[in-house]
Amino acid sequence: MDPISITCGEQQFSLRLLHRDDGAALARYFAQMGEDTRRRFGPHPLTEAFADELVQKVDDSADRFVMTTDDGRIAAYFIFERQAFPHEMQRYAEQGIVLAAGQDISFAPSVADAYQNSGVASAAMPALIGYARSMGAKSLVLMGGTQATNERAVRFYEKFGFRRHGGYQTELYNHDMRLLLTE
Ligand SMILES: CC(C)(COP(=O)(O)OP(=O)(O)OC[C@H]1O[C@@H](n2cnc3c(N)ncnc32)[C@H](O)[C@@H]1OP(=O)(O)O)[C@@H](O)C(=O)NCCC(=O)NCCS
Repeated sequence: MDPISITCGEQQFSLRLLHRDDGAALARYFAQMGEDTRRRFGPHPLTEAFADELVQKVDDSADRFVMTTDDGRIAAYFIFERQAFPHEMQRYAEQGIVLAAGQDISFAPSVADAYQNSGVASAAMPALIGYARSMGAKSLVLMGGTQATNERAVRFYEKFGFRRHGGYQTELYNHDMRLLLTE
């Protein structure tokens, strides 16, 4: 996909796929995440070594997008994972929903602390949803669901049409949420 220019308020971002030269910028992005964000982000480690591993992946089962600023900093990072996770499939099956790898894409968004709650992810969502449709996705499934206490995230997902499908308890309750793309 070609980079897409995204305007949010007065600021301009570029939304594009992560590439091999992004290791240092992605490591900086992970490093700026405060404790609140880290607690809410479950998909993978947030270390410099893992940033390097991600950009070097040859056959990545995920498409990874970044939103960058004019000076090349990463302001947001979005994962579209094609692989289905057995524990997720199991939970959805209990709700009567059969998830299929490659069609029901696991989605995980994150925004840099300094940009959160200023409309950045909302500005990117139409393009990201368009991309998912172009991949032939049937739905976007929140990777690991979202913590029930994460009211901003829940509001954000519901705004874009994600619906709740039960959930599961860890130390907190987590809502499973899914956006059907075929409606
Ligand atoms: C969740 C996240 C991806 C959303 O991205 P964002 O760019 O901050 O979201 P936006 O600013 O576009 O939208 C946030 C919405 O939540 C609303 N909101 C903010 N705080 C809220 C609260 N306490 N209760 C209800 N709604 C709230 C905002 O008003 C906005 O809705 P609106 O556009 O209708 O006004 C981002 O905040 C983030 O990375 N958070 C930390 C990591 C995380 O939680 N990841 C998701 C894990 S499931």
